[in-house]
Amino acid sequence: MIPAIRGTHDILPGEIERWQQAEQVVRDICGRYGYREIRTPVIEREELFAKGTGETTDIVQKEMYAFQDKGGERVTLRPEATPSMVRAFVEHALEQHLPTVKIFSLGPMFRYERPQKGRYRQFHQLDVEVFGVSDAALDAEVIEMAAALVEALGIEDAEVVVNSVGCAECRPAFGRALVTALGDREADLCGDCRRRAAVNPLRIFDCKVPSCQPIVDALPHATDYLCDACRSHFDATTGLLEALGVAFRVSHRLVRGLDYYTRTTFEILGGRLGAQNALLGGGRYDGLVRRLGGPDRAGIGFAAGMERLVLAMPDGSGPRAPDAFIVALGDAARQPAHLLARDLRRAALTALIDYGDRSMKAQLRRANRTSARHVLILGDDELAQGHVTVKDMTSGGETRVGRDDVVRNLAGDLLPASPEQPARMRRPIGRDDGD
Ligand code: HAM
Repeated sequence: MIPAIRGTHDILPGEIERWQQAEQVVRDICGRYGYREIRTPVIEREELFAKGTGETTDIVQKEMYAFQDKGGERVTLRPEATPSMVRAFVEHALEQHLPTVKIFSLGPMFRYERPQKGRYRQFHQLDVEVFGVSDAALDAEVIEMAAALVEALGIEDAEVVVNSVGCAECRPAFGRALVTALGDREADLCGDCRRRAAVNPLRIFDCKVPSCQPIVDALPHATDYLCDACRSHFDATTGLLEALGVAFRVSHRLVRGLDYYTRTTFEILGGRLGAQNALLGGGRYDGLVRRLGGPDRAGIGFAAGMERLVLAMPDGSGPRAPDAFIVALGDAARQPAHLLARDLRRAALTALIDYGDRSMKAQLRRANRTSARHVLILGDDELAQGHVTVKDMTSGGETRVGRDDVVRNLAGDLLPASPEQPARMRRPIGRDDGD
């Protein structure tokens, strides 16, 4: 057996239904807020991310699946979607085609990280981006939408965290303030942080090394160094968030691990996820479109980890149980049983049937394993009388129904009303999350 690559996963029956449900909610919410779907390639030029995500980020420095293709071009599997979305916005002049460029995308991303629960090497993101709007009302709307998405998925105990990292005007002063505040303590930081202090001091806030935490906690806050324009943008964003009824916490440590952010940054954390607790994260990136060769347009968005959303969703979203399992007894019943299955399926019901010539006991055992809501038995007796024996697997009751009525009955016309909640399969195939 050749196993799957570490950090990658098959999504199996029993779990896929939760994904489908999550994707349905995602599409519904995106539609309500006016977003249109786009799909971009999973493979791009390496320089798109070097320039876009940023040379000083862990993603570009350590985590990209980058290689030279057979034509000698440096390419990479995408580690995130934002630079691709910017590229597509510029390449297709989307602002000439869409009144407001609000786009979303769903698909796999690749980062060579150390796998653990909630962190994989191939994972999936919902990515949401808006171009050309600098109004703080949009920052608040995007955060409110992210919170609405989490709520619509039934995820409770989530926390919205926001911050502002300023702009090209005010951030250099903040960077200098960080270095000054570090002073002699810089020598006590971990090696990564000392390197960060030299290259991009904001990255120090990303550090998870325990001995660095007291030093990082005592550092100045970005929001105390905002220029007037960034200050009023942040106040307008948080003011509207309050008016929209979104509960949030301001955290000065939320600088995010990517280089392109300006002004607003935010994350939504899930209470039940463990160490990898960010359900989604994003922010404003007003200089990125231009940096990637496009016009000077504002940008803002977020990405949600689909694996984490699915992990955090409540139980009870397993696959729908099949409506019927047909048991055919004897040679004469076999063909009528297949016709019955066809008719049920044409009526939009899920009908399963056994194959091969197996005993009633063996067929019933299989029916049981499928969790079918009804077992339909066709034997010599039933054939002779033009009936089907219908066993309701929820109540245990058994009735005989005319062959011509059985489809309509199962579709809900005559049989006792089906339970309000559709029955769910009893034994979905589980998945071990850790690696
Ligand atoms: P990010 O914070 O790198 O941001 O990723 C966004 C989300 O993707 C995370 O909050 C997490 O849920 C999920 N995620 C990231 N890495 C992994 C992983 N290795 N395994 C599982 N899930 C993961 C971005 O990617 C930005 N492009 C977001 C953005 C869009 N900002 C503006 N627009």
